Amino acid sequence: MSEPIALTDPEVFEQTTHDAVTALFAHVERARRGEIPATGFAPIQEVRRALQVDDWIDKGGMDRTAFQAFLQAYLAYSVQMHHPRFIGHQVSVPDFPGTLAAVINGVLNNPMAIYEMGPAPATLELSVINWMLRQVGWPEQPFPGEPERDHAGGVLTHGGSLGNLTCLLAARARIAPNAWQTGTPSDLAVLAPAVSHYSCARAVSILGLGAQAIYGLPTDALGVVIPDRIDDVLAQVEADGRRPMALIANACATATGLHDPLRRIGQLCRARGIWFHADACHGATALLAPQSRRWLDGIELANSIVWDTHKMMQVPVLCAAVLLRDAADFARAFRQDASYLAWDDDGESYSPMKRAVECTKASLSLKVFLTLAWRGQDALGDFVDDRYAAARRFAALIAARPGFSVPYTPESNILCFRYRDDDALQPAIRERLLKSKRFHITSTMLGERHYLRLTVMNGATTEATIEDLLDAIEQVAEDLSAPS
Ligand SMILES: Cc1ncc(COP(=O)(O)O)c(C=O)c1O
Repeated sequence: MSEPIALTDPEVFEQTTHDAVTALFAHVERARRGEIPATGFAPIQEVRRALQVDDWIDKGGMDRTAFQAFLQAYLAYSVQMHHPRFIGHQVSVPDFPGTLAAVINGVLNNPMAIYEMGPAPATLELSVINWMLRQVGWPEQPFPGEPERDHAGGVLTHGGSLGNLTCLLAARARIAPNAWQTGTPSDLAVLAPAVSHYSCARAVSILGLGAQAIYGLPTDALGVVIPDRIDDVLAQVEADGRRPMALIANACATATGLHDPLRRIGQLCRARGIWFHADACHGATALLAPQSRRWLDGIELANSIVWDTHKMMQVPVLCAAVLLRDAADFARAFRQDASYLAWDDDGESYSPMKRAVECTKASLSLKVFLTLAWRGQDALGDFVDDRYAAARRFAALIAARPGFSVPYTPESNILCFRYRDDDALQPAIRERLLKSKRFHITSTMLGERHYLRLTVMNGATTEATIEDLLDAIEQVAEDLSAPS
């Protein structure tokens, strides 16, 4: 018999973890001070060689010393989220309490399917969900053993994409209660603005409706829904012999960070009896933010909401919440039994798997709980207000620089801009910056035109960072136009 390893060897566990934490915190400090490149972007074969991936997989044998060397290489080829020049994608710069939770989860490994496999995380999950329901203004779910009443409900899940799928599954169960048994009827339609996150269209196809069941909602040039013209689309749906299964609105849209007018859309959906899904993956944390909450006005009219805590709540990836205004819609959506799992309510336990696509899922609740408990919800709301305000200041600063244009005033921490009136130039600039490892920014299309795009996730990103970025963009554009 070989010696037991890993966590059963306290010395190896403690020392190696200590090494890793020391190295990680030194690394984060260097990133925060901008002393290392913002990203470890490199061609995949280079990364493969540098990390000696194949050797390690084939031969094994890593020990404490080798691990330290490997970790340094791994860090160098990663994206440095804590770097002020990481202004790229909508992923949180993780704060310490959530990171701590990730370590604890990695050790305890309680799978969040049934209560008996994790009473503490299951209890935290119900409490965190109830906290979220309170932010929306929906009635909380009674704990097992408390008097029953009509209530909203929710579940934590592995990401907003799975969240959107779960919400559309619930919408399907409302309009086609037998679909679980007999399949998805072919006459259903989903209404959504074209700028919706791609996971919505995926969910429609996964549910068996087919992509042609999606009807684009009328929008302005920036992709924001125009409620007054929704009835025209509904008339078309009816003329095509279809029934509207759900209407999706963005709070906020991925590309622009702009919000659809939720209240007016919600009122219309109520009047027409249509399931209203608010994709608030990015924006829902603004419910905690005194200044920015107004963008979510009317969200309580939705039937379903998705809220990613791994975006603006500074929780490490990943943890999304699916919230349904009527908790009974979960039971309509998932109609299954599994005799080998005790998932019936006994008045003393709560098993999240009845509401989730996953069987095993991580103990996601601890990350959100510790973030709330440690930082407090006011500080989290202030962070959102601060970053949304920073994005508005950055947009003004960019617009003031000759050669740059900004198509709208940001409503969140996502902003778009262009340098010169040249569509090919924008993605070329972004690619050069990424390969130089100096800045991590993104690009997108608004209508037919290409734009550069920033997501200001990072508390360390300041006006000075943006001035440096604009200098770099001017330089790159000059290099690109120079004869080779
Ligand atoms: C509006 C919106 N919905 C859904 C998603 C997908 O969320 P996740 O990446 O957690 O699957 C995103 C992610 O960027 C988003 O911005």
